[in-house]
Amino acid sequence: MKVNGIPYRTIWPAADGQAVEIIDQTKLPHMFKTLRLSTMLDAERAIKDMEVRGAPLIGVTGAYGIALAMREGSSDAALNKACDRLAEARPTAVNLRWGVERMRAFLTPLPENDRAAAAWREAAHIADEDVEINASIGRHGGDIIKSIYDKKKSTVNILTHCNAGWLATVDWGTALAPIYNAFDAGIPLHVWVDETRPRNQGASLTAWELNQHGVPHTVIADNTGGHLMQHGMVDMAIVGCDRVTAAGDVCNKIGTYLKALAANDNGVPFYVALPSPTVDWTIFDGVKEIPIEERSAAEVTHISGLSDDGQVCTVQVTPTGSPAINYGFDVTPARLVTALITEKGVVLKPDQAKLEKLLQATR
Ligand code: MRU
Repeated sequence: MKVNGIPYRTIWPAADGQAVEIIDQTKLPHMFKTLRLSTMLDAERAIKDMEVRGAPLIGVTGAYGIALAMREGSSDAALNKACDRLAEARPTAVNLRWGVERMRAFLTPLPENDRAAAAWREAAHIADEDVEINASIGRHGGDIIKSIYDKKKSTVNILTHCNAGWLATVDWGTALAPIYNAFDAGIPLHVWVDETRPRNQGASLTAWELNQHGVPHTVIADNTGGHLMQHGMVDMAIVGCDRVTAAGDVCNKIGTYLKALAANDNGVPFYVALPSPTVDWTIFDGVKEIPIEERSAAEVTHISGLSDDGQVCTVQVTPTGSPAINYGFDVTPARLVTALITEKGVVLKPDQAKLEKLLQATR
């Protein structure tokens, strides 16, 4: 996608071939800055500190992190140490573990001397695959938006939560890919962007992306969605996800479940877009089995933004001494999901049998 008219991906090999570069997402929307990751520890920090974030992108960054580690030492011990360490950088999105384990399985049978070059090529291959997958999700989901427009014959209003756009992937995004697909095809649409406290990925990242692409949108406080749905102002909701169980339960940014409940109560279709590596085939009950990341309470007690004199600053919003807690994700049971939109097609009213039938080639 383009930033000020220049095409970018979120992660790419540096021109000197010695590092990868990323867009530093902690600086958006007020500053566009790129960062160089030269070591495995740089990649780990970028994932932990959310300079890169979003399930598919942290999977690809994990893969490049292994490639960087192989340049420092490519023995079995070094490979396993790097894989074990990077897989732990964030707990909820299964794509990180998927990317790292794919690298481990690919590299383990190779002679040690070949691993560094092969790892670099494989990480680039995973990144390219992500772009193809998301473009395909865009086509399948774009058809859904077009069919709503064909019935409604006026602007399609779409609610989204968090950032599941191109910044959360290598390119295109998952939940936003259908929006870009339909918008580029000339379908009149408008996006309600949940701000997504506490880190405000909607207000900071989704709004920035949509702005760059010229997509009409309005940022709303997280609590607004139910009201809009009650008044017929939302035609569909679409979100991304960090892990989907084999039975179709969806784990995504905290607050997603409440939107799914409101959508269910108001007859608003609730779609979830995902690449197939987001399915964790080893678990079935999302509420019981998915580890939920707990992040620093400071993300709740403090907020940052642009001051009137143009400086980015952080302020405290809670009384000094009030404790806060910060769960990063929640689980939406499959029964609240209208359909999963994958690169291979759409799974209506998802369950294990339907998911397996569509995606079994990826297992
Ligand atoms: O904590 P984050 O910003 O990494 O959480 C991201 C999300 O919850 C996204 O909605 C999800 O990863 C889907 S991304 C295509």
